[in-house]
Amino acid sequence: MNKLFSEIKLRNASQTLKNAIAVAPMTTSQSNPDGTVSEAEAAWLERLAADDYGMVITCASAISKQSIAFHNQLSVGDDSKLPGLTQLAQRLKGYKAKTIIQLCHGGSRATPELTGSPAYSASSYSMPQIQDFVSPLALSIAQIKDIINDFAAACERVAKAGFDGIEFHGANGYLFTQFISTMTNLRDDEYGGNLVNRARFSREVVRACRSRVPADFILGFRMSFESMGMETGLDMDENIQISNWLAEDGIDYLHVSHLQYDSPSIKYPDQIALQYISTRIDKDLPLICAGGITTFEDANKALEYGADIVAIGRAAIGNVNLPGYFAQNEELPFTMPYSENHLREIGIGEDFLNYFRLPFIKANLKIMKE
Ligand SMILES: Cc1cc2nc3c(=O)[nH]c(=O)nc-3n(C[C@H](O)[C@H](O)[C@H](O)COP(=O)(O)O)c2cc1C
Repeated sequence: MNKLFSEIKLRNASQTLKNAIAVAPMTTSQSNPDGTVSEAEAAWLERLAADDYGMVITCASAISKQSIAFHNQLSVGDDSKLPGLTQLAQRLKGYKAKTIIQLCHGGSRATPELTGSPAYSASSYSMPQIQDFVSPLALSIAQIKDIINDFAAACERVAKAGFDGIEFHGANGYLFTQFISTMTNLRDDEYGGNLVNRARFSREVVRACRSRVPADFILGFRMSFESMGMETGLDMDENIQISNWLAEDGIDYLHVSHLQYDSPSIKYPDQIALQYISTRIDKDLPLICAGGITTFEDANKALEYGADIVAIGRAAIGNVNLPGYFAQNEELPFTMPYSENHLREIGIGEDFLNYFRLPFIKANLKIMKE
């Protein structure tokens, strides 16, 4: 059988995916304003679970009030969220997909209007190239320990609600990345400076979470291996080293965040980044890769480059039952940008449609026709 449709074991031997196709984490901005699960969010996730993916990863979810980065962001940040999360987990249990909630702390990208406090990060830093950028405040050691505890409590809550696991959002410039990057981490204590110190926050979060959940609860880590966009200070080889440390600390899979799965490395332009990464990370750590995978052929190429699982983002939005098309090696019926009518017809909610209209999303992700 094609590898894409074979069962795949995560690092915890008792957890097996029915196939090697996952839904990539996607912010939907359609939870209730207080972060509880809305019907629109539950229906969207149920559709994906019914679509027959091996794994469904949710939007980036807040782990505390201070971590909130998006309007109408799902939150797992306190016990008032538990009843809704438990109902959602039960609703998804009827399907075979493993259910994973992505956990995120916005750091400098937390939104003061929603958190009620200024944004904090590894350090205070400026980004003159971004108009109106407000420098974050530097976290104290006590605040860092509090955030580690918030992650562990959030993780425990997700397990209690009945989900199969969580994924740490260590990609795309949020708090984990802000600690790892030499551009945003200017600290001179044990959380800054050399690689061991810049990796310390990520490692302590993973270890704290591992100690608080059952052994078969899945912990994934999503990583940007190289700098994207405005933010720099990430190094391919450093991030490979960090990934291998995180494997020792107890993660069950690693998720490479890319906009294009076969893009070359920035540091090694003659090599495909995914291939470079896959040949250097712990052999027992399953590797997920996302980015521009829209055909059965793309998916198989990603596996050839060393991915064990492919994650589908935008193509999963507009195509119901995408794994079924891949199984038949058929072209997807809908390509981007999707018409608004089509998205409405397949049940995409108004808040998610509004998210596609945000200038940054419109310019970079081209999901919906003008
Ligand atoms: C609407 C939208 C929201 C996204 N939100 C997140 C997110 O919350 N967390 C994350 O790690 N990546 C997020 N991404 C990135 C996707 O997970 C994925 O890496 C990217 O879209 C490339 O894959 P694709 O070409 O299959 O869409 C988002 C992408 C889209 C299109």
